[in-house]
Amino acid sequence: MTLPSPTIEPRHFRDVMGHLPTGVVVVAGREPTTGNPAGLVVGTFQSLSLEPPLVSFSVATTSSSWPKIRPAGYFSASVLAHGQDHVCRALSSKHNDKFAAVDWHESLDGTPQISGAHAWIDCKTAQELEGGDHVIVIAEVRRLQAGGGEPLVFHRGRLGGYRELGVLNPPPSTTK
Ligand SMILES: Cc1cc2nc3c(=O)[nH]c(=O)nc-3n(C[C@H](O)[C@H](O)[C@H](O)COP(=O)(O)O)c2cc1C
Repeated sequence: MTLPSPTIEPRHFRDVMGHLPTGVVVVAGREPTTGNPAGLVVGTFQSLSLEPPLVSFSVATTSSSWPKIRPAGYFSASVLAHGQDHVCRALSSKHNDKFAAVDWHESLDGTPQISGAHAWIDCKTAQELEGGDHVIVIAEVRRLQAGGGEPLVFHRGRLGGYRELGVLNPPPSTTK
């Protein structure tokens, strides 16, 4: 028996899925022709496999930055730290020069790492799978290192640390 597919409004989908707190990760590489840094913010970054070490994230098919990162095949993921809200805003914008007001340095692969981040993972793209209006990127981990401090967290449309967002003691949900 096949049940009928219900209609899910995109806004309702976003509202409810926003109850899942996520880290805030900058995926960044270099445009092969110019060498300029290119990057975007993702909340979908996660570990996928231990042996071999793989990570994954999903990127919208409308992304203008992923097509710039994709050709080289190498990128760094920087897990943003509490207090790096300005980096999140810059890298999730549509500005031409997203890195102008952002401190960054090169990984051993030459890919951009965000300075002062909570952790860094240097990666090589292994596979891309279709996922609706996103593609799921699977990547090999080449090296990784933890920084200090606390992570930046995204929860119900707000950015902050665990304590100020009240993730550990959240306000009542208003979403039906
Ligand atoms: C907290 C947060 C999480 C996000 N997660 C994703 C994500 O997982 N995948 C994605 O494609 N865009 C995500 N975005 C949106 C992109 O960062 C944003 O659309 C960006 O402007 C894309 O830029 P581009 O067109 O230069 O690629 C997220 C934005 C924020 C603020």
